[in-house]
Amino acid sequence: MNTQNNIVITGFMGTGKTTVGEILARKLNRRFVDMDVEIEARAGFTIPQIFRRHGEDGFREMERRLIRELALRHGLVIATGGGALVADDMREVMGRHGLIICLNASKEEIRARLAQNRDRPLAADWESLLDARQSAYAQISHQIMTSGKTPTEIAAEIALLDDGALYVRTPDGGYPIIIGSGLLRTIGQDAEALGLARHVVVVTNETVAPLYGERLAAALPRADLIIVPDGEAHKTLDTVRQIYDEMLTRGADRATTLIALGGGVIGDTAGYVAATYMRGIPLVQIPTTLLSMVDSSVGGKVGVDLPQGKNLIGAFKQPRSVIIDTDVLETLPPLQWRCGMAEVIKHGLIGQPALLEPDLWQPEEAPRLVRQAVQVKIDVVEVDPYEVGIRAHLNLGHTFGHAIEKATQYGMPHGEAVAIGIVKAARLSRNLGFINDDLVARIQTIMWHIGLPTDIALDSHRWYAAMSTDKKWQAGKPRLILLRALGEATIVEGLRREDIMAVL
Ligand SMILES: NC(=O)c1ccc[n+]([C@@H]2O[C@H](COP(=O)([O-])OP(=O)(O)OC[C@H]3O[C@@H](n4cnc5c(N)ncnc54)[C@H](O)[C@@H]3O)[C@@H](O)[C@H]2O)c1
Repeated sequence: MNTQNNIVITGFMGTGKTTVGEILARKLNRRFVDMDVEIEARAGFTIPQIFRRHGEDGFREMERRLIRELALRHGLVIATGGGALVADDMREVMGRHGLIICLNASKEEIRARLAQNRDRPLAADWESLLDARQSAYAQISHQIMTSGKTPTEIAAEIALLDDGALYVRTPDGGYPIIIGSGLLRTIGQDAEALGLARHVVVVTNETVAPLYGERLAAALPRADLIIVPDGEAHKTLDTVRQIYDEMLTRGADRATTLIALGGGVIGDTAGYVAATYMRGIPLVQIPTTLLSMVDSSVGGKVGVDLPQGKNLIGAFKQPRSVIIDTDVLETLPPLQWRCGMAEVIKHGLIGQPALLEPDLWQPEEAPRLVRQAVQVKIDVVEVDPYEVGIRAHLNLGHTFGHAIEKATQYGMPHGEAVAIGIVKAARLSRNLGFINDDLVARIQTIMWHIGLPTDIALDSHRWYAAMSTDKKWQAGKPRLILLRALGEATIVEGLRREDIMAVL
């Protein structure tokens, strides 16, 4: 018996539901049902005729009957009518055994597509209809912005979601995160499905290029490789300029996709290029450090440093997709692994306590570890895409940590400083009565187990002074992310100096 979930493609008229659905059904070898065609066949009339004879209410009733029937079947690819899933109960029924995907397009594109096909009963006043339906469409958790993508690419994106890829919702659509072992080995075969068969530039650094960059560029049909120097010292506008120059030399235009292959430094720098080159081109993140897999490649923050400070220039640029091949972690230096683990533990403390279990830290568990850790980041950035609220929770331990980095003139690696910061934040949380001694002791043991430090001999007055210049410290007032409980962070404002000094 076929027990696969249905894949249900919905969205406004003119977003390409039928075309994409047909391609997807062929690709997955599944039966395709176009609801409008099915209704016409059963009624023996065209949809405009049904509207004339029975009115919109009569048509909607036929649609509801068909939805109830299709929802009981399995393994179908279904393209709905644009209004079919506007009612809450119909989305609920379809969603019980179905992955529902909402396709979006810009108003300009919808206008152009409708101009080609005027045979739709509701097309006359489509703009106000779209406005009225927008809030219902927004309830659907998987959204795909179709602009700039071919129907084949959209179908491939849906197939990935059906295959268990994670998905990040953003204000204007969303993107998949594909996680697995060996993905880079097969990327050439999957280039079309991943939207990488067109012209791409792979931006990477001197360290990652010989490990993975050259092979990746050779595996893709039309790829240029751009190599920049390694290190935070090169996360600058000079490097951005170098990438712009090389892209122009290689004829990159607005249809070129930029692949950022590397750790957070490459993701941030190359991401900023993708956000700004010719007013923005598609970006695919292929993170190669643990930190970039679980943190920096997801959420859309890109940017570079200035001599005056870190990350002072930047933008929000959502990637088209994030491809995480956990095999690349095999070559990652142990220090980088530990530093990434500091962020994994942070994600465990603020949202997924399962990450605190040592069984999950074994190399063979990397896909599962990354999947669970990145899900915490997704949950946060979906709620707060532009960092105005709870995204601050991701800074647990960071205000303490940044101050250590500053006070040691960046002699201590970021992840180690964050590990100490997390322990300090835990102690302060306990002193304020939020969590108990056991949890603080557990966090310390976890850091030791991973090989991360939990304290540093630093003058507490110097440490406090360095913390108070943190940009998250609002208007000079102490403001920290603390733990309210295991798995729950909270922003605490107006802390007393002596309470903070007590844990330094
Ligand atoms: N945008 C965001 O939301 C966000 C979030 C957190 C951190 N960041 C930024 O990320 C940066 C830190 O990222 P990072 O920790 O990945 O450092 P990184 O990019 O400097 O990488 C660390 C080192 O590992 C090397 N490397 C990368 N992948 C490798 C692999 N598979 N095998 C061997 N070596 C490999 C790199 O060349 C580098 O030398 C900082 O600039 C930070 O500001 C950004």
